[in-house]
Amino acid sequence: MLPSRFIANPFFIESSPEVVRFDLNRALSFHHSLPFYQPTPLVRLPNLARKLGLKNIFVKDESHRFGLNAFKAIGASYAIYRFLDEQHQARNGEPLASELLFSRKYADQSHPYTFTTATDGNHGRAVAWVARQLGQRAVIYVPENMKEIRKQAIEAEKAEVIMVAGHYDAAVAQMARDAEQNGWQIISDTAWPGYEQIPHWIMEGYQTIFYEADQALASKEKPDIVLIQAGVGGLAAAAAGYYVGRYPNTHPKLVCVEPLDADCLLESIASGKGEMAHAKGQQNSIMSGLNCGTPSSLAWPIVKSCFHSFLAIDDTWAARAMRTLFHAHRGDQPVVAGETGAAGLAGLLALCDDPALGTIRERLHLTDQSTIMVINTEGDTDPEHFQEIIRQR
Ligand SMILES: Cc1ncc(COP(=O)(O)O)c(C=O)c1O
Repeated sequence: MLPSRFIANPFFIESSPEVVRFDLNRALSFHHSLPFYQPTPLVRLPNLARKLGLKNIFVKDESHRFGLNAFKAIGASYAIYRFLDEQHQARNGEPLASELLFSRKYADQSHPYTFTTATDGNHGRAVAWVARQLGQRAVIYVPENMKEIRKQAIEAEKAEVIMVAGHYDAAVAQMARDAEQNGWQIISDTAWPGYEQIPHWIMEGYQTIFYEADQALASKEKPDIVLIQAGVGGLAAAAAGYYVGRYPNTHPKLVCVEPLDADCLLESIASGKGEMAHAKGQQNSIMSGLNCGTPSSLAWPIVKSCFHSFLAIDDTWAARAMRTLFHAHRGDQPVVAGETGAAGLAGLLALCDDPALGTIRERLHLTDQSTIMVINTEGDTDPEHFQEIIRQR
């Protein structure tokens, strides 16, 4: 197993609410208006916490989101709604009622769209799912190392899937070129200079996850540390948006978790001035949703000033976290977490047990008084591999 890497953020600003401008209420009122909306469970793991020498651990279980086995559609649905609303207002001079959008096929069939994005799996499936609900077309670009089962999950939503030679970044570049040529609407969760509005809405939509978790917790249970797994950093920026926006001076310490094989945020924070940098690894982690080579240009400035620290871990920790969640310690509730879903807990296990992180526990003030929250961002999205991993003891 390769040793973990940890960097305390030299650019961290204790209170930096001015870098985050998300409209939480707008996202919440959209999600609350959806006929199929329900908050996802927040699972308490007191026995695992005791075993690790902590006060408590909470897992926000996003595998239950909209029946899609991953959190991504909470962002994609909101962003597509905001886009259609803007179009609708420009044409009709009035807002598009969100409750009508998903309760029947999107009414305005006179303006059909082709939605497109690049994806490591879950976001593409989410965009394809939303497009299908609205009777629109989706074309989804995937990197060549994507497993067949993930490609099939996107195709099952009636989307066209285009496989691109190279990694995720190559898929993004090809998708952007084709969208421009064909007049398709990009619904990307990563941003780049000149393409930021939709990724902003996607991150705004993710805020609902943290609001729900907050609502489910009593005040003395609020987390001291929240570990967030990052691909391009959109979910991480949303976490920062929620906590720093809501609790400017008392927000939990935010810790970013990436695979060693795809650690673009850690590399960015490690680059002298904290400029965006590329991942150095092969981007072939089993945490496939995190196999991204470059941070989102919109997420990065937020993550850079609001995250306390950055951790990159070997895949072995992810497998161990999946087993820990599934086999549940002494009466804790079992959680089905995929490789990427388990990454937050994997980071916590590494912080507790990796000798390479010896002094870090103290630096983070990780003690028997600490309450930790992680997000299970996906369930068993690759069921065969999931079974293989949980069978290993
Ligand atoms: C299951 C899962 N978790 C976490 C992430 C990371 O999200 P982001 O790319 O916004 O950092 C992804 C990204 O696709 C994902 O699929």
